[in-house]
Amino acid sequence: MNEIKVWDLQTRIFHWSLVVFVLCTLVTADILRFFGIDLVNKDAWLAFHIGTGVAVGILLAFRIFWGFFGPHYSRFSSLRLSLKELVGYFDAVIKNIRTNHTGHNPAASWSALCIIIIGMLAVISGVVVFSLDEGRGILRSLYIGFHPLADNLKLLHLGLAYALLAVIIGHVCGVLNETFRHKTGIIPAMITGKKLSDEVEIPFSGSAPLTMVSIVWVLSPFVAALYFTVSMETKQPSNMVIPVIYKKECGSCHMAFPPNVLPMKSWQVMMANLQDHFGDDASIDDSSNREIEAFLVKNSAEHSLEEASLKFIRSISKDNTPLRITEIPYWKEKHKLISQATYQRGTIKSRINCVACHKWSEYGSFEDSDIRIPRE
Ligand code: HEC
Ligand code: HEC
Repeated sequence: MNEIKVWDLQTRIFHWSLVVFVLCTLVTADILRFFGIDLVNKDAWLAFHIGTGVAVGILLAFRIFWGFFGPHYSRFSSLRLSLKELVGYFDAVIKNIRTNHTGHNPAASWSALCIIIIGMLAVISGVVVFSLDEGRGILRSLYIGFHPLADNLKLLHLGLAYALLAVIIGHVCGVLNETFRHKTGIIPAMITGKKLSDEVEIPFSGSAPLTMVSIVWVLSPFVAALYFTVSMETKQPSNMVIPVIYKKECGSCHMAFPPNVLPMKSWQVMMANLQDHFGDDASIDDSSNREIEAFLVKNSAEHSLEEASLKFIRSISKDNTPLRITEIPYWKEKHKLISQATYQRGTIKSRINCVACHKWSEYGSFEDSDIRIPRE
């Protein structure tokens, strides 16, 4: 047996950067929430998740390209995908017979293919979810307000992430088996590119431009990950214009609440009874009253495309006209874990001071990524 070159430089860079980026993407995904770990500064982690996710996408696209134009052992045509060979491989594993494969063995061929396909689908679904759910990313023009379908897509994205994780775990088990039971040295081979084999080395005669393009492509994910992590803009709140008179008359005793958190009917009842407003007299002159009411009705929950508005409306029973946002079941459900002591912190003062925790709440936006509970 001779030592021959099997894995070209680009494939090795691809392989190890994929390991790094997939790990980073999985760790910063919501998956951690299942273990009760809630990442503190969500938006920063989301930016990192998007950045590394984009890197995974670019890498997988590179691998598909390289599967057609790369050296012999990196080409899809060299994968061993026959089921018979796969069964034979597992049979040998169970019987503890050492097998020798110069390129991908049958199990590795299938893992590679599954990782590329499932990984690509995970990236694409991620981009779509990010656009539909958050109104951000390259497909953000698809965003026409919160769409209930986004929740299902999110589940699909999560499912794909788990499937990818499962394939990776299977692949790692195979590698450990090869390494410790059969000592085929496949980990060093993926670093040096060289393997002991009976086959003759197949030289790669790629043109200079192909080599250039492939090297730049396979290294570009590092730049892309950095760029997306650093540059991700926070979501712009809706472009609702808040009338000055509303801020003046309704923002003096508490924050000027966004109109889209209560149904139209609630605002009409409230505006008709300002002289007895939760025990205070908040009455104002007729023309101001009409102007404010028009603004509140026009932007009420029924007329809003925000996810929160839809959920507020859904949770209110038909014959109910709540005057307090904080009595709507959806609000209570979402805030049930927050203690009284938290609301009493100096910078919050009251649970109706939404803006203390929801950065863009005055504009009716309550995105998860903009929530921060002040520490004191
Ligand atoms: C004179 C002070 C004052 C003014 C002016 C005022 N409010 Fe209030 N408002 C209150 C008080 C007091 C509460 C009850 C606060 C509490 O329970 O913590 C309240 C509560 C509310 C709530 C319910 C909050 C909740 O979910 O618990 C809404 C909605 C509201 N006000 C809207 C308005 C609007 C609209 C205007 C302008 C037309 C307005 N307020 C003007 C004093 C005022
Ligand atoms: C002390 C901080 C705090 C205050 C004050 C507060 N919230 Fe929240 N709110 C939170 C937290 C934390 C969550 C996230 C809960 C979760 O995801 O389980 C949340 C969740 C929400 C959500 C759901 C967001 C989503 O998309 O999942 C809405 C809507 C909301 N709050 C509206 C309001 C409104 C309206 C007010 C004011 C009347 C308010 N909140 C006051 C902390 C606060």
